[in-house]
Amino acid sequence: MSIETNTNITVIDHGEGDEPQVNLSPNRTFASVLEARLERRSVLKGSMGAAALGFLGVGLAGCNSGSSSSGSSPAPGPTNPAPTPAALLGFEAIKPALLTDSNADTITVPPGYSYHVLTPWGEPITGTYPAFTSTNTGQDQAEQIGMHHDGMHFFPIEGQDPYEGSSEDGLLVMNHEYVEPRFMHESHRNQALGSGGVLQAGGVRNTDEVLKEINAHGVSIVRIRKGVNNEWQVQPDRLNRRITGQTPMEIQGPVRGSAFVRTKYSPNGTMTRGTLNNCGHGVTPWNTYMAAEENWAGYFRNGDSTRPREHTRYGVSSGTGRYAWERAASGEDQYIRFDASATGASATEDYRNEPNCFGWMVEIDPFDPTSTPKKRTALGRFAHEGVIFAPAVEGKPVVCYSGDDSTNQFIYKFVSRNNYNKATASGTLLDSGTLYVAKFNDDGTGVWLPLVYGRNGLTEANEFTSQADVLVNTRLAASVVGATPMDRPEWGAVDPNNGDVYFTLTNNGGRTVTDAANPRTQNLHGHIIRWAEADGDHTATTFQWDIFLMAGDAGQSGDPNLAGKDLNGEPLTEASMMSSPDGLWIDYDSRIWIQTDIGESSQNRNSFEPIGNNAMFAANPETGEIRRFLTGPVGQEITGVITTPDQRTMFINVQHPGATTTAAEWESGFSRSRWPDQDQNIPPRSATVVIWKNDGGKVGS
Ligand code: FEO
Ligand code: CA
Ligand code: CA
Repeated sequence: MSIETNTNITVIDHGEGDEPQVNLSPNRTFASVLEARLERRSVLKGSMGAAALGFLGVGLAGCNSGSSSSGSSPAPGPTNPAPTPAALLGFEAIKPALLTDSNADTITVPPGYSYHVLTPWGEPITGTYPAFTSTNTGQDQAEQIGMHHDGMHFFPIEGQDPYEGSSEDGLLVMNHEYVEPRFMHESHRNQALGSGGVLQAGGVRNTDEVLKEINAHGVSIVRIRKGVNNEWQVQPDRLNRRITGQTPMEIQGPVRGSAFVRTKYSPNGTMTRGTLNNCGHGVTPWNTYMAAEENWAGYFRNGDSTRPREHTRYGVSSGTGRYAWERAASGEDQYIRFDASATGASATEDYRNEPNCFGWMVEIDPFDPTSTPKKRTALGRFAHEGVIFAPAVEGKPVVCYSGDDSTNQFIYKFVSRNNYNKATASGTLLDSGTLYVAKFNDDGTGVWLPLVYGRNGLTEANEFTSQADVLVNTRLAASVVGATPMDRPEWGAVDPNNGDVYFTLTNNGGRTVTDAANPRTQNLHGHIIRWAEADGDHTATTFQWDIFLMAGDAGQSGDPNLAGKDLNGEPLTEASMMSSPDGLWIDYDSRIWIQTDIGESSQNRNSFEPIGNNAMFAANPETGEIRRFLTGPVGQEITGVITTPDQRTMFINVQHPGATTTAAEWESGFSRSRWPDQDQNIPPRSATVVIWKNDGGKVGS
C-alpha cells in the first residue's frame, strides 16, 4: 500500500482491488515432491475404471441410491437423470476474448445460447426505489443493489429440493465483495487503481460517501420472475432486502460472549454490526444462505506499537483502513470503529475488538426479512472464500468445507456434533461441532486435523486459553497442528452424484518450495485439487486426493511452469486454456463450472495476454474435457453461478468491469469498459447475466 498526498486530496492505493494478501511464509513444507501429480493420477485411473463412482471408485453413502430418505441430498431424480458423461458438454467451445477483438467489452456465449443483463449495481429494490444516478446518496444505496457482485444463489420461491420448486419465480441472493469509490462519487475522479479512499482537506472523509460505500457492501435479496422471451425482471416484494456493512448481526457459537468480541456496541459480546467483503457463499441443507467474510482485515487499522495476534495474523495493519472509513467527518461511532487502536486518534473509545467480529461465515434466512443474520463462529475465523455443504444425510452430522484465500493458507472442514434431521434442521447445527484442517500427504492420502482446544498443541504452551481463542485465531491454530499451506484456496464444490470434493487454488506467485498438492513454484495460473473422503463418508478423518487440473496456457509461453494440463496430463488447448480458477460449482448432472479471476494487474498482459479476459468453463469430471463457455468484458472477473432447478436458466455475475482503467484514464473521462450500459455517462457496473439455451435445453448440454 502507498499513500500519495497532494494539496488537499490523499489517494490511498491498496493495489489489487479485491485481493489484498497477507504474505506469510509456509509454516511447514514437504521435503520433496515424491512423484509428478499427473503421473500418479494416471496410475490411479488405470487401476479402477469406475469413475462414475468417484475418481477413486468410491460411492457416496446415502447419496447416490435415489432414495428419498436422505433429505435434501441432490441425488438424480426421475425427472433429472444424470446424463452419461459423454453427453455432459454439448456446446461449442468459444475462443478467448482478447483486447484486440471486437467482442472484448461484452459477454460472449456459445452458438445457440442467449443472455441478458439483470440486477446491475444501483438497481432499486426496496423502500422508495431510488433510481440509479451519479448523485445517489448513502441512503439511496441502502435501497439499491450493491456493488461488485460475487457469490449467488437462486432460491425457488417455494420448494427447497434442487429438482423441485419454481424455475420461473424465486429469490436471487448475492454477495457484494468490495467497492470502487472512483465509480461511486464524482469527487473521486482521480482514484488510483482499484480501490482506496479519498481524503478531504483536514484528512477526513465525506460522511455520506462513507455511508454509501458501507451500504454498497453486504448482500442483496431480490425477487425475480421470468417473463416472455426469457426476460427475467426484478419484482417489488416484501422479501426484497439489503443487508449491509451496518446491519445488526448476532454472534453465535463458541465465540459468542467471549472477551474477544465484547465491544462498545455489544458489551456482552453477542452482537456486531455488518458484514464485509462477502466473496463466495454457501447454501445450507435447510435452505438458508451463507455469506463469507473474506478480505475484511484491510477495512480496519490498528496503530498501536503492539497489536494482538488476532489482528496481525490476518493483516490488520497500522496504516489507513482500506477506504479510510475511520476518518468519516462526522466522527460517529459506526465509522470510527474501523480504527481498532487502543491508543491514538480514537482512543477516547475502545474498538480493539471490532476486527474480531469479522472473518466469519454469516447465515441469512432470505425468506424471513425480519431475521437477524448470524455469524457462525464454530466454522472458524479466516479469509473465508465461501462454504460448501456436503449433501445432508438423515441421521448423520452436517458437513461443510471452507477455504482460506490467502497465500499459503488452509482448507477446513466442519462436522456438526448433532445429527441432521430434515424436519428439525436449523442453523444451530452449525454452533457445535469439530473444525478440522486439511493435511495433504505427498502419497495422495490426506488427514483432517481437529482444531480442538487442549489437543495437538492448542494449549497454553502456544498461548491458547479456550476454544473461543482457537476459533478467533484459526489460522494460527491450523499452523500449530501442521496443516498444509495451499496456493490460495478459493471456492469448493461437491459432486452431487459421487461426493468428490473439488477446490480451486487460484495462484501463488510467491511459492518457492513445492509439495505434491502445490507442485509449482511461482504458481501464476493456479490449479484445482479434489479428494474423496474415506468410504465416501464426509465425516471421515482421512481422504485420498488428486489434482484435477493444472491451469495455464496452451504452450504459448514455452515455459513448462506456465503450461496448462488436464486430468489426463494432456496440454490445454485454445478451448480450455485458463488462468486463476476461482468460482466453482458442480451442477446436478456433475458438470463442473469453473470461473476465472486473473487479477487486474495481470490480465491481458505478458504471459496472461493470450488467455484473454476472465471467463467461465465447463468440465467433465470423468474425462477431464474442458470447454470455454463464456467470456466477459474488459477488466472484470466472472464469479457466482447457479441455475434454476430445471437447469434451463443460468445466472452468473460479472464483477468489477473496467477495473483495469488507470487513474489517469478515469480522470480524463475514459474507461476501458463501459459494460453493461455502454454509455459514456455511466460508469462500468457489476451485474448479473441470465443465460439460456435457445432450444430450451439444459445449460451446458
Ligand atoms: Fe474474493 Fe478469493 O476471491
Ligand atoms: Ca473469489
Ligand atoms: Ca479471487
